[in-house]
Amino acid sequence: MTRTIEDLIPDYLRGLPVYVPGKPIEEVERELKIHAVKLASNENPLGPSPKGIAAAKAVLADANRYPDGGTHALRQTLAERHGVSPDELFIGLGSSELIDLAARVLLRAGLQGLTSEGTYAPFSVAIRASGAELVRAPQREFAFDLKAMAKVITPKTAVIYLANPNNPTGSAFGREEFEEFLVAVPDGVLVVLDEAYIHYAVSMALRDSVEAYRQRKNLLILRTFSKVYGLAGLRIGYAIGRPELLAAMNKLRTPFNTSGVAQAAALAALDDTEHVTRCIETNAAERKRLSEGLAKLGFRPVPSEANFVFMVVGPDAKALSDDLLQMGVIVRPLGWMGFQEAIRISVGTAEENDKCLSSMARVILKRAGKGELAAR
Ligand SMILES: Cc1ncc(COP(=O)(O)O)c(C=O)c1O
Repeated sequence: MTRTIEDLIPDYLRGLPVYVPGKPIEEVERELKIHAVKLASNENPLGPSPKGIAAAKAVLADANRYPDGGTHALRQTLAERHGVSPDELFIGLGSSELIDLAARVLLRAGLQGLTSEGTYAPFSVAIRASGAELVRAPQREFAFDLKAMAKVITPKTAVIYLANPNNPTGSAFGREEFEEFLVAVPDGVLVVLDEAYIHYAVSMALRDSVEAYRQRKNLLILRTFSKVYGLAGLRIGYAIGRPELLAAMNKLRTPFNTSGVAQAAALAALDDTEHVTRCIETNAAERKRLSEGLAKLGFRPVPSEANFVFMVVGPDAKALSDDLLQMGVIVRPLGWMGFQEAIRISVGTAEENDKCLSSMARVILKRAGKGELAAR
């Protein structure tokens, strides 16, 4: 029997789910011929850092040249910011690439990658794509249950993925709980701590995890420019970790993973404290208003430390999202993330959140009229 190319695809890759992105706004507007707001992908509604845009424009004329493959300027600046050395910094094509590279370097068949149920789906994909066994500990009240996770560590566990704050539930764990967990993790197990939304967790000290990293070097901290800096479309993020691990990741990445435009924008955005502060403050105020508005409509949003709100709405979560879509409000039903009865709404501008709340009220009225209102 002759072998086909398809036969060469390993079984552990065949079964992998495809990442489902939020519906693009252009697609919805084209299909429905209405103005839409996108509250489905946890993007920054206030736009990119203006300093970042200016810096990106300034380097566009050099686009005939390859970028600095070693990302020296950005690593140097980030190293100073975080009080680590440049060889403890790795710049990635978004934090997405970093999630994947950690698994590709450390995991393989015969080992286990551990994460939680109800967290960012690419963690599980990265573990499974490496050929390792995926182990998922249960959540507790829509949050990482670090005690339950510590209990399922085995001699085969090599990498553990955590998101703090968590996507899609918006919950966060504190310093004490995290440090207790780290004590239970053997030195030979890497903890990947994805802090994509850490700026929005206003109650938490931003430097905490880097301090923990200094004390226990089996930690890889992931940050992104996609959220508070507003550069999701430029695809750039970074990791702080031990040089030996980063050197191995460096061998696997593509030679010029991040563009010169993205590097320049990221460097400038880091200094744009005015934009960062405005984004954090607006998000905190609007998150509160959106959550309270949803509560008034009878929902019970989970208290959020991020730039989105998660809530269980009942078995008709997908239908509810579709109804909102018809009104031009794109939210995220979460069946593909394991929550069949929940939706996630990104915090938008005041105007976008108003549109979301008024559309939600109309959907509820319409459904009540039809006797379809799900128990909440
Ligand atoms: C927890 C988490 N990690 C990583 C990412 C991906 O970020 P990036 O755009 O840096 O690849 C996201 C995106 O939504 C996320 O929610």
